[in-house]
Amino acid sequence: SGTLTVGDLAEKLNKDSSEIIKKLMFLGVMATKNEDLEKETIELIAEDYGVEVEEEVFVDELGIETQVEEDDPDQLEERPPVVTIMGHVDHGKTTLLDAIRHTKVTEGEAGGITQHIGAYQVTENDKKLTFLDTPGHAAFTTMRARGAQVTDITVLVVAADDGVMPQTKEAINHAKAAEVPIIVAVNKMDKESANPDRVMQELTEFELVPEAWGGDTIFVNVSALNGEGIDELLEMLLLVAEVEELKANPNKRARGTVVEAELDKGRGPVATLLVQEGTMNVGDPIVVGNMHGKIRAMVNDIGRRVKSAGPSTPVEITGLNGVPQAGDQFVTFEDEKKARQFGEARASRAREEERSQTSKVSIDDLFSQI
Ligand code: GTP
Ligand code: MG
Repeated sequence: SGTLTVGDLAEKLNKDSSEIIKKLMFLGVMATKNEDLEKETIELIAEDYGVEVEEEVFVDELGIETQVEEDDPDQLEERPPVVTIMGHVDHGKTTLLDAIRHTKVTEGEAGGITQHIGAYQVTENDKKLTFLDTPGHAAFTTMRARGAQVTDITVLVVAADDGVMPQTKEAINHAKAAEVPIIVAVNKMDKESANPDRVMQELTEFELVPEAWGGDTIFVNVSALNGEGIDELLEMLLLVAEVEELKANPNKRARGTVVEAELDKGRGPVATLLVQEGTMNVGDPIVVGNMHGKIRAMVNDIGRRVKSAGPSTPVEITGLNGVPQAGDQFVTFEDEKKARQFGEARASRAREEERSQTSKVSIDDLFSQI
């Protein structure tokens, strides 16, 4: 599936082919100048020169118009929207996430949802929606800082009895910077002191103007406490998703982003991954950030073992040789050996970076002592 030769890549990166060939050897890939390179290989080399992994950036910065493994439009299929909930402290983000999950989970599944997973899916009118349960604004700050864009739509939660607060503004800024559409959920409508008009009024200052007032922002009045408005909110999210035409090719190797990861006493490193394109299968060799391995087991958001996961699906995997970080990208491979080589190369580079940073710090420390 390679669309660039070693020579092409060298030219794009403005380097000698021999230098690229040497780097490839270090990664365990023996290639001649005219050999086609795999997408992952191209990305790893590019990354080595400080060019980011993300496809658009990759394409832009290298000016490659031969888009690496561009999807045939026929292969693109509709995928569920990935939704993040943001808002000021105590305005009800967690309660809303819980309410959505609990109202939408069927009887038989209820047992599974007691366990915590950083992302979950619900179904509304036969369509799925994926919610990311990231503490605070992590989905935008940490993940975006690392080049990962995972959110398709943001729900901005504003408590009807409190109005726009500092973190409401922050959330708006993050969503705007990421060019993610915003739906406003005016929460705590069950309260006596709820004043949704004031919330609308305050938000017009941020160009979030309701349709009733001539704008194009969707406002939904909800109560995370009693469930009012939750169906409407989900319907509106699906509407926005439809307008955005969210699609992905499920018929290729998977790539996506780490939502969260930890070391489990019994199971070893456990990572919740959000598949963004392609399909991931148990047994797939994988590189996740600076870690690698082979997917030993996959568990979905309701605690069931699954064998595969397609676009916009969150799953928890085991089988990695270490704990990756939230926001890290992952790619699955066909070849286990290659995954290991790439994983090890990335890990050793990370160690080197860390070493050089440590030595920098100690030199700075030294000077500050004088
Ligand atoms: P942080 O995670 O600390 O930023 O807060 P949060 O936005 O997740 O708010 P959380 O869901 O923890 O809710 C804060 C408080 O508001 C809790 O006591 C909730 O029970 C309450 N609350 C949330 N939603 C509603 C609602 O719709 N109505 C009422 N009356 N109370 C609510
Ligand atoms: Mg919370």
